[in-house]
Amino acid sequence: MNDQEVRRGAGIYSKPVLGFYDLLVVKFSNSLAWRCPSQLMLDQYNRCIGTRHLDVGPGTGWYLANADLPESAEITLMDLNENSVEHAASRLAHTHHVSTRGVTANVLEPIPEALGQFDSIAANYVFHCVPGSWADKGVAFKHLGERLAADGVLFGGTILGSGVSHNLIGRGFMALYNRLGIFHNREDDAAGLEAALRRSFDQVKVDVIGTVAVFSARNPLRNGGAGGLD
Ligand SMILES: C[S@@+](CC[C@H](N)C(=O)[O-])C[C@H]1O[C@@H](n2cnc3c(N)ncnc32)[C@H](O)[C@@H]1O
Repeated sequence: MNDQEVRRGAGIYSKPVLGFYDLLVVKFSNSLAWRCPSQLMLDQYNRCIGTRHLDVGPGTGWYLANADLPESAEITLMDLNENSVEHAASRLAHTHHVSTRGVTANVLEPIPEALGQFDSIAANYVFHCVPGSWADKGVAFKHLGERLAADGVLFGGTILGSGVSHNLIGRGFMALYNRLGIFHNREDDAAGLEAALRRSFDQVKVDVIGTVAVFSARNPLRNGGAGGLD
C-alpha cells in the first residue's frame, strides 16, 4: 500500500475543509449525490453505539454530536488526520458530557492494544477514502476486529463505485474526488465489502442504500478461527 496515497485520502481534512464539510456532505451530498440520507446513518449510530465506543475517521464528529450516547459513554476518536480528532473532540465537548480521548493513527495498521476493547466501533465514510482493493482495505477489518469485544459491533457506511448507479451529481463528485485522491472507490462493490468483512467477522450485514453500502459486523473471528474468545 502506497503510504503517500493513504495519507492523501485523509490529508484533505484541513480546518477550513472541516468548516464546510457538514454543509457539503452531511446536508447536501448524502441526500442529493449519494442518495443515502444522513439520518439513516445516524439511526444506525443510535442502534449500535455502546458504552466503550471507538470512532474511526470521525471528521467533524457530526454523527457523534447528534447521536444518543449512553450516559457513561467513553469515546475514543481515532483518525490519521489530527485536525479531525481535534474538531470532533471539541464539538463533542459542547454537546455531551462524556469522557473523550483522541488518537492519531492509520486504520490500515494494527490498533494499539493499550486502547483496550470496545463495545462498538464506527467507521463511517472512511473506506472510500482508503486506497486499494477490498483485499487491501480489508486489513483494517482484522485490526478493528481485534479491538472489538466478543459481543460488540462494527458499523459504518461507505460510498461504492461499482455495481451502483450514480446520478449526474454523484458522477461529477466521483470523478473529481477520485482524480484528487480524496476518494479511492472506483472498484469498490458491495460483494467485495461483504467478502472482506466475512474474513474477520462471523456475522455480517451489508445493505446498499442509494450508492452507499451501510454495513454492520459482529462476532469477530480470533486467530482466523471461531469468534467470541474474549
Ligand atoms: C469523509 S470523512 C468521514 C467523516 C465522518 N465519519 C462522516 O461519516 O461524515 C473521512 C475521515 O476518515 C479519515 N481517514 C481517512 N483515511 C484514514 C485512515 N487510513 N486511517 C484513519 N482515518 C482515516 C479522514 O481523515 C477523515 O476524518
